[in-house]
Amino acid sequence: MCGIVGYIGDKEKKEILLDGLQELVYRGYDSAGIAIIENRQLRNFKAVGRLKNLREKTKDYESIDFGVSIGHTRWATHGKPTELNAHPHMGTYSFVVHNGIIENYQELKKELQSKGINFLSQTDTETIVHLFEKYNNINGNPWEAFTKTIDKLDGAYATLLITEADEKSIFFAKHGSPMLIGFKDDEIFFASSDTPIIGKATEVYYLEDGEYGYAKDGKVTLFDENGEKSFTKQPLATDKAMAQKDGYRFFMEKEIYEQSHVMNDTMMGRLLEDKIDFEELDEKLFENITNIKICACGTSYHSALTGAYLLERVAKIPCQVEIASEFRYKEPLLQKNTLFITISQSGETADTLEALKMAKRAGLKSLSICNVDNSSIVRESDSAILTRAGIEKGVASTKAFATQTMVLWMLTLYVAQIKKSISSEKLLEELDAMRHTPKSLLVTDRVHSKMNRLSKRYLHGHGFFFIGRDLFFPLALEGALKLKEISYLHAEGYPAGEMKHGPIALADSELFTIALMPKTLHYDKIKSNVEELCARDTTVLAISSEPFELADDFIKTTYDSHPMLEFFEMMVVTQLLALEISIRLGNDVDMPRNLAKSVTVE
Ligand code: F6R
Repeated sequence: MCGIVGYIGDKEKKEILLDGLQELVYRGYDSAGIAIIENRQLRNFKAVGRLKNLREKTKDYESIDFGVSIGHTRWATHGKPTELNAHPHMGTYSFVVHNGIIENYQELKKELQSKGINFLSQTDTETIVHLFEKYNNINGNPWEAFTKTIDKLDGAYATLLITEADEKSIFFAKHGSPMLIGFKDDEIFFASSDTPIIGKATEVYYLEDGEYGYAKDGKVTLFDENGEKSFTKQPLATDKAMAQKDGYRFFMEKEIYEQSHVMNDTMMGRLLEDKIDFEELDEKLFENITNIKICACGTSYHSALTGAYLLERVAKIPCQVEIASEFRYKEPLLQKNTLFITISQSGETADTLEALKMAKRAGLKSLSICNVDNSSIVRESDSAILTRAGIEKGVASTKAFATQTMVLWMLTLYVAQIKKSISSEKLLEELDAMRHTPKSLLVTDRVHSKMNRLSKRYLHGHGFFFIGRDLFFPLALEGALKLKEISYLHAEGYPAGEMKHGPIALADSELFTIALMPKTLHYDKIKSNVEELCARDTTVLAISSEPFELADDFIKTTYDSHPMLEFFEMMVVTQLLALEISIRLGNDVDMPRNLAKSVTVE
C-alpha cells in the first residue's frame, strides 16, 4: 500500500526521504517519487519499479541546505504503475503526495477540467494539487487554500503538500489513512508509520482522523473541526523491528488486525454503487467461456474452493478447483472454453506456476489472482487481479486469504453481471453486504481476550476437527491448516456431513471439534451434525450467532444477515484461536518450523 514521508530541516533531504521510503517498501509498491523545495527551487524525481531506480535517478542531486520535502511509494489503484501516475503530483508551483482514496475525485476533476486545467495522470491525487492552486490563485493565501481544498475532499486519505507559494511549510491532513509527525530539535518529519523516522526523530505525535495543519520553522500548528488545538508529543520507539510490528507480538497478529483496513484497499475502485468493476479486466476474457478451473496450493487452494461455491451458486458458471501439484501430473483434459484461474499470494509457487504454463500450452485463457505485481504468475497470465493485501510477513497466511476470498466474491458478481445471471435486486443486496465486510473483520477485545482464555483448554487432546458445510467447509480446512502450521497440533478440516462416514469413530472427550455454525447457511443441518458429536462426548467449541447450549465453549458472532459476513467474522475467530494456542505453546508464530513463505520448488 502507498507510503508517505516528509521532512523539513537542513540535513540532506534526498537521503532522509529515500531512507524513509526504504522502510515503507514492506507495504508493497510499484513506483516511488520525491519532491524538494530548497533555495526557492522545486525539484522532483519519480521512477517506476524498485526504489533503487529512484536512487539511480537522484544520484547526482544534492539537497544539503534548509528546505521542505515530501516522498511517496505508490501501490497502483487508480491508473497503471507509470511515472506519470507516481507521486508526488505536480501543479504549476506545488506538489502533493497522498495515501488513500478521494471518492469524489471524478466530480472535482471534471469541474477543474471545465476551467481549463490540464491533468497529466489518471490518479485521484492530482485533483488535490490543482484544487489547491485554484484557490491559492484566487486569494494568494496558501494556508486558506489548503483548508478549502481538504474541505472539498470526500474519502479516506493522508496527504502532504508543499508549494513555492509558501516554501518553508508542509501542509498536512489526515482522514482515515495513517500518518504521524516526528520531532527532533528544529527538524520535523512525516511518515505513514514509525519506522522511517526511528533513529532520526526523538518524539512523535500520531495524528488523529480529522486533524490537519502546517509545519513551519520547527513548529507544528494543528487543527481539527473545532479549530486550533494543542497536542502532546510522546517519546519515539527506538527498536525498528518492534515498530514494524506496530506493537503487536507477531506479524501474524498484526496482519489479522490489519484485515479490516486492507479490505478497503481490495475493494477500492472495484466495488461501485451498483456494480463491480475491474479496471484491469477486459470483458473479452470471458467471451466463449462456459466454465472455470481454479488451480492453487495451500491456503490459496482454500480460497479457491470458497470461490467455486460462489461462482456456481451466484454466477451460475460451472467451476472446478484443483490442487496445483495434483493437476500437473494427472494428464488433465483441458478445453478451450475453460477460463484457467490461478491463485497465489506470492505469485512464485512452483506448482501453481507450472499448472498455469500447462494450461497456456493447451491454449486456455488465463487469469491470476495474486498479491505480488510482476511476480512470475502475474507475468505469465493473460490478465491479473491484484489482491492488494500489502506484504504478508507471517508465514501462516491470513490477510492474503481474506483478500483472495474477497476478490473471488467480487469476481463472481463481475461474471454474473457479464452473463446476466443475477437480478439487479440480488446484485444490490450482494454489494450492500460487501460494504459491511471491513466491519465483519474487525478484531474486538471481547473475542480476542476470549480466545486467549479459551486457548489454555485446547493444548492437549488427540486432535482437532474443524467442521463446516458449504462455504464453511473450505473455511474449516483453512482453520485447521492455520492451527497445524503454527501450533504443530494435529487438525483436520472436514465437511460436517461427512463425519458420520468415518471420522466420528474418533469422537471422545479428548477430540476437539471447532464447529462453524452460520445462521444463514444450512444452520439446522450443521446443528444436527454437531449434536451427534456432542452425544459422543466430543469437546465442542461452537462459533455461531445463534446460541448453542450443547457446546462446551461458545463464541458468539454478530453478523447474521449474509453468509460471507459470517464467513469473514468466523475466519478471524479461527485465526485468533490458532495464534493464541501457538503463543501458549511457546512457538515462533511468524516462522513455523519447516515452512517457507514462498514455495518456489516442487
Ligand atoms: C498457509 C500458506 C501456504 C500457501 C501456499 C501457497 O498459511 O501460506 O499454504 O498458501 O504455500 O502459496 P501462494 O499463495 O504464495 O501460492
